[in-house]
Amino acid sequence: MSSDELVAQTLFDVKGFVAVVTGGGSGIGLMAAQALAANGARVYVVGRRKEALDTVAKKYASNGQIIPLPGDIAHTDGVKAIAAELEKNEAKGINILINNAGVSPESKASSEADKVDFSNANAVSKWMVLDGTEAWRESYAGNVAAHHFLTAALLPLLNKGREAIPGHSSSIINISSTAGITKTHSKGQFAYSSSKAAFLHLTKEWAHTFVPLRIRVNSIAPGLFPSEMTTGTSDENQKSKITGAGEHFPAGRTGRETDIGSAILYLASRAGTYVNGQVVHVDGGLLLKTPAAG
Ligand SMILES: NC(=O)c1ccc[n+]([C@@H]2O[C@H](COP(=O)([O-])OP(=O)(O)OC[C@H]3O[C@@H](n4cnc5c(N)ncnc54)[C@H](OP(=O)(O)O)[C@@H]3O)[C@@H](O)[C@H]2O)c1
Repeated sequence: MSSDELVAQTLFDVKGFVAVVTGGGSGIGLMAAQALAANGARVYVVGRRKEALDTVAKKYASNGQIIPLPGDIAHTDGVKAIAAELEKNEAKGINILINNAGVSPESKASSEADKVDFSNANAVSKWMVLDGTEAWRESYAGNVAAHHFLTAALLPLLNKGREAIPGHSSSIINISSTAGITKTHSKGQFAYSSSKAAFLHLTKEWAHTFVPLRIRVNSIAPGLFPSEMTTGTSDENQKSKITGAGEHFPAGRTGRETDIGSAILYLASRAGTYVNGQVVHVDGGLLLKTPAAG
């Protein structure tokens, strides 16, 4: 092998690749889309709010392309429409699917978590059901089932994308969470954290199932990053800010675009071709300080 192949520019190259990033209109999905576009990929960003996607396409196309693809992945019609649009536009298929969209609908339990008396069974019992059964339906529909149906719908396109680039494998990256790994209660967001654990399991099952297709499946488990989910809002550039958090993490800070971008480029490019069925913890060392599963 010539040393040229080991130059970072070649090893981590995604120029000309076609990527789909769900939830690419804000937070971590936007960070992933930015990193891919900055390195020359054509990136479809999926989300329910067209205006958010339009802003992202306008501001962050950089060295590549960002194309808004509005749609709701939690509904069958939404999944079908997204797949149909990609089939129409991308005759050579797609190379990267980032299953990033997510919801965390347990705001009541989360806001009460610090006040609960954990030695009082009645208080814990009441707190555990504050957000009702709908929060469970929403979490599992949005964080698990939606990804399953979209991935199934896009599998033929990922297969085509792999065939179009000899020696390369298409890459699916699932954005899970440290919440799906730690034994702590994630501020009472039991539906959210268990849905993320389910998504980690799907990562392994899909990786195994797609071996004959040579489509790789890995997961990134982020720690704490600024996003609409973690701060409740974003600015006119679709960016969010976290203040006063992260000091107690081993890294001493919350996550940044570069932390997500580097992991995405690794798993999506030739650099990650030998990595399959794995979880990359991009958490600033959070799991070193929090009781983890296993
Ligand atoms: N930020 C963190 O600290 C952190 C940590 C661990 C894991 N995560 C995970 O990272 C992922 C991204 O979350 P985030 O923190 O970046 O929050 P975010 O800014 O709220 O991003 C979530 C995105 O998902 C989209 N979305 C939600 N439901 C959708 C649906 N049914 N169809 C299409 N798009 C949908 C939203 O756009 P629309 O509302 O326009 O549809 C939004 O852009 C999630 O899976 C989350 O669980 C985040």
